[in-house]
Amino acid sequence: MSHPIIFDTDPGVDDAQAIAIALRHPEIELLGLTTTYGNVDIETATHNALLLSELAGRDIPVAQGSAGPLVKPRHPAPAHIHGANGLGNIELPEVKGKKDPRSAAQFIVDTVNARPGEVTLVAVGPVGNLAAALQLDPALTGKVRRVVIMGGSIREGGNVTPVAEANMFNDPHAAQRVLTAGWPLTLVGLDVTHRCVLSQAHMQRIEAGQGELGRVLAGSYAFYRDFYREFLGIDGCCPHDSCALAWLLRPELFTTAPGHLAVVTDGLAEGQTLFAPEGRGFIQERWSQTPLAEVCLEVDGEAVVEWIADTLS
Ligand code: BDR
Ligand code: CA
Repeated sequence: MSHPIIFDTDPGVDDAQAIAIALRHPEIELLGLTTTYGNVDIETATHNALLLSELAGRDIPVAQGSAGPLVKPRHPAPAHIHGANGLGNIELPEVKGKKDPRSAAQFIVDTVNARPGEVTLVAVGPVGNLAAALQLDPALTGKVRRVVIMGGSIREGGNVTPVAEANMFNDPHAAQRVLTAGWPLTLVGLDVTHRCVLSQAHMQRIEAGQGELGRVLAGSYAFYRDFYREFLGIDGCCPHDSCALAWLLRPELFTTAPGHLAVVTDGLAEGQTLFAPEGRGFIQERWSQTPLAEVCLEVDGEAVVEWIADTLS
């Protein structure tokens, strides 16, 4: 089965690998890349999206989106994790292509409306572009095939605060709108991405299989790996964003549960994702009033990293 997707991204080392999968996997029809600030500023995100698609020999529309959060001030980009250029500070070739003249939100609206019921939105950065697309066309909720979001954490705790995952924390107000919009939505969060550890051996296979694109993926991975070693004591990296595509293509590797999501927008817990399992009673009903969504709770992490390496080898 072919999956027509729009990939919304803030590349970013793990984003870059996921973009490579979206460009290479035979069952993915990549309709466009939409960019957001997050791991890098918006201009760098767009530059990297154009570059990665050129390195793969593809001419994919790249539409630029949000430069900052809807409400709160923007946090500085995490250059210690992804490098100042988002790709581990390695030297990069020149970009030849130009971005699409439309905003990311307009691109999403136009593309989904051209193929109602067919297009899956896969978002792996702060979700301001999806919130903006919903504002342009609220009926989008009934026209997408599915929305898959790498973000949030159900039981795992946070990675940028004790309770918040980075993509949710970076724009909690947008996340609250997008996660409660009532479209078919799957959340691929830290509960599963932290169970997937991509080793140096996996990366060597990817480097060998991807030519010049492989050089950029492996070079940036080396920088990202230093962060994991120093801060988390892991030898290897969590391929967060690739996991969203792994869920789309290989859902049988994941255990999911239906329930109601909400995102805390202010205060010490900002960016925390709240999940009320379907049918579970709480002291009041207010946690169970948002539309049903699906969250990933468990995964066969070894099978996912094998799938990533196989896809890019
Ligand atoms: C998410 O945050 C970003 O830094 C990564 O690219 C990923 O999308 C993980 O929390
Ligand atoms: Ca990302």
